[in-house]
Amino acid sequence: MLCYIHIPFCDSKCHYCSFNSYINMHDRIEAYMISLHKNLLNEIEKNHIKYGAIETLFIGGGTPSVVAPHLFVPIFETLSPYLAKNAEITSEANPNSASKEWLSSLYALGVNRISFGVQSFNNKKLKRLNRAHSANEAIKAIESAAKIGYTNLSLDIIYDLEGDTKESLQKDLEQAFALPINHLSCYELTIEKATQFYKEPSVKQNREELGYFLRDFIVSSGFEQYEVSNYGKIKSRHNLGYWQYKEYLGIGAGAVGFINKSRYYPHSNLEHYIQNPTYQRREQLSQEEILTEKIFLGLRSIVGINKSILPKAMQERADLLCKEKKLKLINNRYYNQEFFLSDALALFIMGY
Ligand SMILES: C[S@@+](CC[C@H](N)C(=O)[O-])C[C@H]1O[C@@H](n2cnc3c(N)ncnc32)[C@H](O)[C@@H]1O
Ligand code: SF4
Repeated sequence: MLCYIHIPFCDSKCHYCSFNSYINMHDRIEAYMISLHKNLLNEIEKNHIKYGAIETLFIGGGTPSVVAPHLFVPIFETLSPYLAKNAEITSEANPNSASKEWLSSLYALGVNRISFGVQSFNNKKLKRLNRAHSANEAIKAIESAAKIGYTNLSLDIIYDLEGDTKESLQKDLEQAFALPINHLSCYELTIEKATQFYKEPSVKQNREELGYFLRDFIVSSGFEQYEVSNYGKIKSRHNLGYWQYKEYLGIGAGAVGFINKSRYYPHSNLEHYIQNPTYQRREQLSQEEILTEKIFLGLRSIVGINKSILPKAMQERADLLCKEKKLKLINNRYYNQEFFLSDALALFIMGY
C-alpha cells in the first residue's frame, strides 16, 4: 500500500504546468491542512489500513515546501503507526521555498527523501519556464538538504524547450551530477491545456534525439533507467509501486486513490475540498481497462508484464516483439528493451 498526499499551492505558475495548484491562495493553507487531516483519518478508517501497512508516502504538488512544517505535524502523528518501519517518505520541494529550516523540520518529522523541482541550471531557461528560483538557489537547496542528513535526493529536469541543445542539456546534467543526488527525473516537455505554453506550442522542439542523448549520458554516469523518465542509483519505491499496480491512498485536492480495482477522486477545487474533504467520486475499472493499464505501465518501466495475464492473441504479438528483440521474456514476464518505444509496443500488443 502506497500513500500520496497532494499540496495544491504554488508561489507562481510555471508556463508548462497543468497540475492542480493555486497561486495567491496561501491564506487558505491552514484551512486546507485541517481538511487534509480529516481526509486522511477518514481514508485510514474506511479502508481498514493496518499498522505498518504503508510502504511509501509521497507528498507532492503543487509545492509542499510552501506549507509551514508545523502544519504537517498532525498528518505525521496520524500516519506514523501506519507507516512501515523502513518506509520511503518523499516530499517534493521547490528550491525557492525549501529553506534550511523547512528541510530540517521535515527531516525531523521523518521525511527521508526529497525530490527537487529544478528543471534546469540555466537562468535564462528558468525564466522562460517562469520558475521562481535561480540555478544558484537550486544548488544551495540541494547542498543544504545533504548537509541536514538526507541521503536520498532527486531532481527534475525538463528538456525539449526551444533553445535546448545537446550541449546545453549536457551542462545541466554535469551540474546535476556534481550534486549529492542519487536519482534524476528527466521529463520531455509536454504542451498541456490551460497553460501559458498552450498558447505558444512552438516552444517545444519535438527533437526526439535529445531524449536519447540525455538517456545515454545519464546511464553512462551510473544511473539506471527504470522508467521512460526516471533514472536512479537508488530507485524510488513509490514510483515503482505505481507501475507495479500497487494500491494507493490519494489524499488532498486533486489527488487520486486506487483501491480494490477502483479509482477515487476527492474534489479538485480548493474550496469544495476544504468544505467537504471526505467526498470522493468513484470510478470502477473494468477488467479490460486494468489489462490495458498493466500493459502500458509494465512496458514503460522495468516492471514488465506477466505473460499469463495476456490473452492468446496478445501473447503471440508479444512473442513477435521478442523475436525482433524489442522485448525479452524472462521467467514468464515480458520486459521492454527500449522504454522510449513503450507506447507503440503496448499498442502493437493490444492489436492497434
Ligand atoms: C508535480 S511537479 C511538482 C514539483 C514542484 N512543484 C516543482 O515544480 O518544483 C513535478 C514535475 O513534473 C514536471 N512537469 C510538470 N509539468 C510538465 C510538463 N508539461 N512537461 C514536462 N514536465 C512537466 C516538472 O519537472 C516538475 O518538477
Ligand atoms: S511545476 Fe511545480 S512549481 Fe511550477 S506550477 Fe507546477 S507544481 Fe507549481
